[in-house]
Amino acid sequence: VACDVAVVGSYNQDFVWRTDHFPVPGETRLGRFSTGPGGKGFNQAVAAARQGAKVIFIGALGRDAIGQGAAALAHAEGIDARWQWCEDQPSGNAAIVLDAAGQNLIVVGSGANLALSPAHVEAQRAAIDAARVVLTQHEVAPDATGRALALAREAGRITVHNPAPPLADEDGSLLPLVDVLTPNETEFTHLLARCAGVAMDAGALGVMADDALHALARRLGVPTVVITLGAAGAFVSHADPARWGDARAAYRVPAARVQPRDTTGAGDAFSGSLAAALAQRGEAPFATAITHATRVAGLATESPGAADAMPTREALRERFG
Ligand code: RIB
Ligand code: NA
Repeated sequence: VACDVAVVGSYNQDFVWRTDHFPVPGETRLGRFSTGPGGKGFNQAVAAARQGAKVIFIGALGRDAIGQGAAALAHAEGIDARWQWCEDQPSGNAAIVLDAAGQNLIVVGSGANLALSPAHVEAQRAAIDAARVVLTQHEVAPDATGRALALAREAGRITVHNPAPPLADEDGSLLPLVDVLTPNETEFTHLLARCAGVAMDAGALGVMADDALHALARRLGVPTVVITLGAAGAFVSHADPARWGDARAAYRVPAARVQPRDTTGAGDAFSGSLAAALAQRGEAPFATAITHATRVAGLATESPGAADAMPTREALRERFG
């Protein structure tokens, strides 16, 4: 099986309530409800697939209605999913509250995602071996993520790791297996604190000079670090820009101009479409893949939902040419 991107990650059913402003502790508010597919891993897989990548997804589901729905959905998206079916865990789920400004609060019930086993990942070794890019996050059992990255490294595949959400007990043990790391500001400062002993405020990154930010990113020891900065776009820091056809070791790429309605899954749109673009890159520079990813992420914020909001190639072409 030759494929562009193998995603090893989570599926969550997202339960979403839209309300004018967030409730304070003890408060009850009325909101408009909707539900749809989510989970960082699945969102990224859908983002990649809708950009035309051939995608294999390795994840875990409970034997429940949510799990049945997820399997059908993966199929409908043209994703070749290799599910581990868990008898004693519910499928992953997330409670999401959105305010009028489109900000979100999320609580994840991991369920089956934390039962994803290294053995199941190992059993899909042929799929990982045949993938151009292997993409992981922090929403399944850490051992399973570690096994996926180790197998990918062994096979000489490009590894892209999105360190989201931040791990309380982050020890940096996955970093040596990563080619391209895609933290947001919070995740980046968390990694710096936990793995490089550098304490700083996430808010300070946006105004930092490129040289200073590049020097900080180099402290993680990962060849390429891409920090996503929301409406401020993305910052790229390479150890070896020539490896990726880039002229500069550190640079910023502005965000696409969009009208955000729901930013849930925007980071996933970025990582998934970046992985797809790197798999299909040819001779194009890395910077081109980043511009593409900022557009996919921007467009995803204009539609409600997480996986459902991922734009197609056609939608992207229509909007950005
Ligand atoms: O990154 C967005 C995702 O985070 C949501 O889809 C939700 O499931 C949580 O995992
Ligand atoms: Na969205």
